[in-house]
Amino acid sequence: MKLELLKSSFEQISSDLVVVFATKAAAKDTGKESGKKADKKDKEQKPKVTVEGLGKTGTATVTEKITSALEDGSLSASACEFVLFRDAKVAQARHLAVVGLGEVKDITAEVIRQAVATAFTSAKAAKAKSVSFAMDSLAHNSLSPEIVMQAAAEGAALASYSFHEFKSGKKDDGVTTVHFVSTSKNKGQEKGLETATVLAECVNFSRWLGDRPGNRMTPTILAEETAKAAKGTKLKVTVWDKAKIKTEKMNSFLSVSLGSSQDPKFIIMEYKGAAASKKPVCFVGKGLTFDSGGISIKPSGGMEEMKYDMCGGANVIGTMLAIAKLGLKVNAIGLVPATENMPGPSANKPGDIVIARNGKSIEVNNTDAEGRLILNDALVYACEQKPAAIFDAATLTGAMVVALGNIHTGFFTRNDKLAAKVDAAAKSTGELVWRMPLVDFHARDMKGTYADLSNISSGKGAGSATAAAFLENFVDKDIPWAHFDIAGTGWHNGDRFPYNPRKGASGAMIRTFVELAQAF
Ligand code: BES
Ligand code: MN
Ligand code: ZN
Repeated sequence: MKLELLKSSFEQISSDLVVVFATKAAAKDTGKESGKKADKKDKEQKPKVTVEGLGKTGTATVTEKITSALEDGSLSASACEFVLFRDAKVAQARHLAVVGLGEVKDITAEVIRQAVATAFTSAKAAKAKSVSFAMDSLAHNSLSPEIVMQAAAEGAALASYSFHEFKSGKKDDGVTTVHFVSTSKNKGQEKGLETATVLAECVNFSRWLGDRPGNRMTPTILAEETAKAAKGTKLKVTVWDKAKIKTEKMNSFLSVSLGSSQDPKFIIMEYKGAAASKKPVCFVGKGLTFDSGGISIKPSGGMEEMKYDMCGGANVIGTMLAIAKLGLKVNAIGLVPATENMPGPSANKPGDIVIARNGKSIEVNNTDAEGRLILNDALVYACEQKPAAIFDAATLTGAMVVALGNIHTGFFTRNDKLAAKVDAAAKSTGELVWRMPLVDFHARDMKGTYADLSNISSGKGAGSATAAAFLENFVDKDIPWAHFDIAGTGWHNGDRFPYNPRKGASGAMIRTFVELAQAF
């Protein structure tokens, strides 16, 4: 799909479908401007919808079309409301659509991203091949042209993703061209479009890694696809095989792979965009290409979803690719331990004791708590790189889904300054995060009976926090670290966010991680 910025008047727009943005007056303002009593009453009953910036003729033709929708109440311009006028023949376009932004004072980049995504998805359903967004109609509150364009383009590009690789005979019948049309065109808009295009490309690539089933996205394939995607960029990819993982003393990670016939891989991605003296930011992602639970096997219902257990890893790969393709002036390292968790003859057994790279011993009391057994060795390796900060992303605990559902990503850190950086980064990307507690009580619950640590908690509840407390044992105290549990947000959250697939991997935290890479 092509995304283009076009300098053109509204009247010249000739796509299959033209989308104009509408805002609604604040409830208290409705009808205020009119002195006449009868008029005031009339306006109070109906929301006041405004479409801006289309010029005299444009506004007149659009207004004419939407008046009836206003009359019967099918249009109110609330955020993400979409109304299609088939064969409206406005401008040179065949169909007209109006998408709501809500009240001007509430318009943020995320409101724009969601509105454009909604409009895009609806345009696709209406079988439009080419869609134009009338950007002059996009009213907002002092957002820069760059931010507005980036948010709009992300909305369309992220919503364009679909996974149909294995459906025979299915050709991509989606939208082929998206034009963002405005009468003026500036550098900020161009930059916004460019950034959005790269970010969406990397998010969509990550989604594809996640959506592929376990037999088509093994640790080996994951490593190969990462290397392939990094070709032509400044990203250096190194892959450690099983023997190397063993000599590097990543025996906790290795132990998880032993029940599978698929070899584990440790994927290292390095990007140098700043002076060698600048400390890198490290990203670590759980790359469990299929989690059956191992000997502590999972119930069969819904087990197929465990192909998504590598979404943390896929999102770190997406993050690193985006950093490299945007040419950011930062140093960054991405680490993905990749393996299956299967109940083969050499699999971890409950009670087995394994020794991690930093020498700590761990009782594997539940083989389904495997994510922490692969992340720990990767975190130790991350600390050895003397990073400015470490961020990890993992579909780590079902408890996270219970706590926050598929709306917020829960993150854990004891470092308040780092938490503030995470909140600021997430605010700018619109991704919803929520800081979760991590205190010494959680750490106490992870002590082992026969080894230093147990991989499951001795207490009840707070399963996400105790998992974070386990991981903390593998991070040097002086290195700022935050753990993101994306169990609820890594996939199937498109019923919340219109730019994500309803079913399938989301790419959660990639855009926020790219922001965080620039925060040190
Ligand atoms: N990959 C799962 C966590 C998960 C479950 C993510 C459901 C998304 C949806 C993880 O490896 C796991 O099995 N965790 C266990 C830990 C428990 C045994 C302490 C869990 O959450 O049940
Ligand atoms: Mn598991
Ligand atoms: Zn898992």
